Order: sequence, then structure tokens, then C-alpha cells
Amino acid sequence: MPSETITRELHFGENLEVLRHSIPDRSVHLVYLDPPFNSNRAFHLWSAAPHSTASQSKAPGRKQDGAHGAVFADKWSWGEQTETEFDELRRGEPALAGALAALRTVLNDSGAMAYLVMMAARLAEIRRVLRPDGALYLHCDPSASHYLKILLDALFGARNFRNEIVWHYYNKFSAGKRVFARCFDQIFFYSAGDRYVFNPLREPRQEPVRQLLRENVGGILKNRKDAAGKTMTRIVHDRKVDAVWRIPCLQYASREFCGFPTQKPLALLERIILASSNPGEVVLDPFCGCGTALLAAQKLERGWIGIDKSPSAMGLVQTRLSENFPDLAYQRVGLPPAETVLALNRAKKRPAL
Ligand SMILES: C[S@@+](CC[C@H](N)C(=O)[O-])C[C@H]1O[C@@H](n2cnc3c(N)ncnc32)[C@H](O)[C@@H]1O
Repeated sequence: MPSETITRELHFGENLEVLRHSIPDRSVHLVYLDPPFNSNRAFHLWSAAPHSTASQSKAPGRKQDGAHGAVFADKWSWGEQTETEFDELRRGEPALAGALAALRTVLNDSGAMAYLVMMAARLAEIRRVLRPDGALYLHCDPSASHYLKILLDALFGARNFRNEIVWHYYNKFSAGKRVFARCFDQIFFYSAGDRYVFNPLREPRQEPVRQLLRENVGGILKNRKDAAGKTMTRIVHDRKVDAVWRIPCLQYASREFCGFPTQKPLALLERIILASSNPGEVVLDPFCGCGTALLAAQKLERGWIGIDKSPSAMGLVQTRLSENFPDLAYQRVGLPPAETVLALNRAKKRPAL
């Protein structure tokens, strides 16, 4: 596909509005979303990220607070907006609204329930923009994963559930005196229908292993033998990627880290994009943060659409894009120049790819 016909769009704004008004039905091949997790906390930019030239740096490793406030807050309460979104779902998405109503009998009008209504409204729009052969990867953690899977089953059909991927970030454990250390996120993989792109992936093994050689004899797999009747083996250096992904999370000193509090590693996004899309296809990230999915999509020659309502996130995405792909042309929609420049100044860093 000629490069100029590839979709590349960065939208600043509330993703529900952008999805509804700017993204056509059945136009996207792959959606990755890494929304707030219902963690009941606020996230701040990290000042003085090691590769940052930010002028407002404080002590290394300190969270930047104060004048600019949080990048985003992951705290929820039941309000007018929740009622409106729930009513819209009752009218347009009866199965999803039914699942929400059932959950409400357990959660009442709690913050968790408000969070789920917010997610349901956006997931319904995401389902609409996904092509019939498309796929969705929803990144979450055990705070709400059990509820989110119910919503996804209601929206996509349980038969289209493909995997629960465990991202095991073995280099960061949450401290807890009375619980086991938390060390993974979950990523739910659903397809829109029976036919969908899936490119199996392989990864290097830590140690090579000797494996039996097998052959298909009349439909039955049997050990292969040499002329002398001896079972044959081979040394294998790689393995099929399974549903447990051991990928380190970004640390303060990681080369890739740009100071965004919930920034995901490029390696994680590259895996998803390689497995579930082909070059030239469109990857949508409606909670794009500092743009990791967009950078990975660009690197792998996919089209991309990113949406975020945080000015700081928008500044970081643009910085990362321009530093890694200096001549890249893309559509910027709704970006306010003043805030963008402010965030850009805070976010300068070396290219990470
Ligand atoms: C967990 S972060 C995403 C991090 C991203 N995956 C990365 O690697 O940088 C979630 C993002 O969603 C954005 N967000 C939350 N609610 C939103 C909404 N309703 N519309 C648009 N963006 C939203 C926040 O501003 C935040 O940047």
C-alpha cells in the first residue's frame, strides 16, 4: 500500500466523542486499549526521566506534582454522566446493558460500577468501528478484569474470546505485607467474528532444548526414526509464543521511558500488532497515553489512530513520533497548540526505537 494512503491520525479529546463522530463503522483492523484500571489513584508525570531534557525537572525519580496536576485520574463515582451513558446503552446495546444491570445488583452505584458503565459505553463504540475480521486486545489488571470479561462476552459473544494473555512483568513486584506480590496484568484478546488475522509468533528460548522429531503417519503423529530404527531428535532454539508473556516493565532508567506514568513497553505492543494485523492495516488505540501502540504500529508499517484527552499525553506522543520518525506526516485533530508546546517542552527525550 502506498505510504500516503495509510491512515495516521492523532485525536486530542474525549474518546467517546471522537469514536462517535470521527471513526466510521467497520474501519479498524485491530484495537488495543489500555484504559484506566479502576485503581482508585491519580497518575502523575515523572519529572527528570533519565532521557528527558525537561526544564521543570525536580529530583530524579520524583513524581511531578503541583501546577500541572495529574495526567489522569483513575477514580470513579456514580454521577449524571454515568446515568446518561447507562441510558444510552439500555437503548442501543441491550445485551451489554443487561450484563451491567446484573453487575449492579452486586456493585450497586459504587465507583466500580461507574467505571464499568464508562468502559461499556466505549467498548460498544469500539465494537462498532471494528471490522468483521478485526480483533480487540483489552489491557487490564485484576482490579476489574473479572467484570470486564463479562462485558466483553456480552458484546463480542463468548465464542469470540480467544485468549487471556498474562503479561508477567517479572522485574517489578508490588509490595504487600499480607498478600502475594502482584506481578502481572491481563490482556483479553477477542475477535469480532470467526475469521480474523492471526500470525503465530516465535520467541527465543533461554536454553536450547532437544526435541523428538515427529511425523504424520496416516493422520497419527509418531516419533520419526532413522534407517537404524533409532528415534530422531533435533535441537530447538525458539518456541511458539504462548499466552504468558514474560516482558520486563519499563523502569525509571529504561531507555524507552519518557516519563509517562503508565507507559507500556514497545515489545508488548509489537507482539500484539505482529500477531493480529498485517502491514498497511489500521490499529486503533483510544486511550493512547504517550503513544506506545502508535509508535509500534508505525515501526511495523501499520496505519494507526490514537486518541487521548490528556494534553501531556498528546505532547509526549508528538515528541516521540517526531524523534523516532522525523519526516512522518500524520493528521492532528483537535490539538491545542499552547498546551501541546508546554507538554513538548517537558517531554524531550532520545529516540527509543
Ligand atoms: C493507562 S494510560 C495509557 C498508556 C499507554 N498505553 C502508553 O503506553 O502510553 C490511559 C490513558 O487514557 C487516557 N484516557 C482516560 N480516559 C479517557 C477518555 N475518556 N478519553 C480519552 N482518553 C482517556 C488518559 O489520559 C491516559 O493517557
